[in-house]
Amino acid sequence: MTDEPLLRVSALSKYYGARLGCEDVTFDLWPGEVLAVVGESGSGKTTLLNCLSTRLTPSSGGVSYRMRDGSWRDLYRMSEAERRFLMRTDWGFVHQNPADGLRMTVSAGANVGERLMAIGDRHYGNIRSTAVDWLSRVEIGKDRIDDEPRSFSGGMRQRLQIARNLVTGPRLVFMDEPTGGLDVSVQARLLDLLRGLVTDLGLAAIVVTHDLAVARLLSQRMMVMKDGYVVETGLTDRVLDDPRAPYTQLLVSSILQV
Ligand SMILES: Nc1ncnc2c1ncn2[C@@H]1O[C@H](COP(=O)(O)OP(=O)(O)O)[C@@H](O)[C@H]1O
Ligand SMILES: [Mg+2]
Repeated sequence: MTDEPLLRVSALSKYYGARLGCEDVTFDLWPGEVLAVVGESGSGKTTLLNCLSTRLTPSSGGVSYRMRDGSWRDLYRMSEAERRFLMRTDWGFVHQNPADGLRMTVSAGANVGERLMAIGDRHYGNIRSTAVDWLSRVEIGKDRIDDEPRSFSGGMRQRLQIARNLVTGPRLVFMDEPTGGLDVSVQARLLDLLRGLVTDLGLAAIVVTHDLAVARLLSQRMMVMKDGYVVETGLTDRVLDDPRAPYTQLLVSSILQV
């Protein structure tokens, strides 16, 4: 373990023209830590996640990331090529809609194998066996390896997207409502699977969700957002069992749950 964070976020704000996306967000994320960002629709969760993962450029503030060699880098001062490399290797991004994170017209095996090739693996046999291994870890049968994800159910697609993201051994995974589009019974199973993987791999993750049950199950720490601002932050059990901000109290008492 290390005594330094993985990600440092300071006074991050994002405006879309005059419209506030998120304002003055500051926190550290530690290696292996799962942070849930909760809040109702329009509170700024996706804006924040997209700024952190450099998919959006913030209006002000900064984010630094500790690279594998221990050096700190300002994410917004990296070249496009360096950023893309980070995204392919050290990071994962799990979209709410699996179609946004998968290639729907290439096989399941290729969806996973592609990420390995992107980091330089050229040995077909290795790629294939690693892909099979990862498909089984996400409970997709070996007999489906040559099928395209468009023939998969929503839950299977989401599991495939997770395998595609984790196969390169990332240190940090961004997830935007990972169980959002799924049936309740499928959600529970996926959540269980995710929790197991995150624990086994010691992953750090930032999980955006409007579902407090997801935060409870996956995260150690949570951040509550309202209208673009962070209104409360703390250990997940503390925030959910003893919410301090009036807004969090409403959220927890389920009046505002959507
Ligand atoms: N591309 C955009 N252009 C203009 N306003 C946006 C855009 N994306 C989000 N917003 C606004 O930013 C605020 C936060 O939205 P968002 O980050 O999507 O919230 P959440 O993910 O919590 O639902 C909302 O008021 C939303 O309308
Ligand atoms: Mg959103």
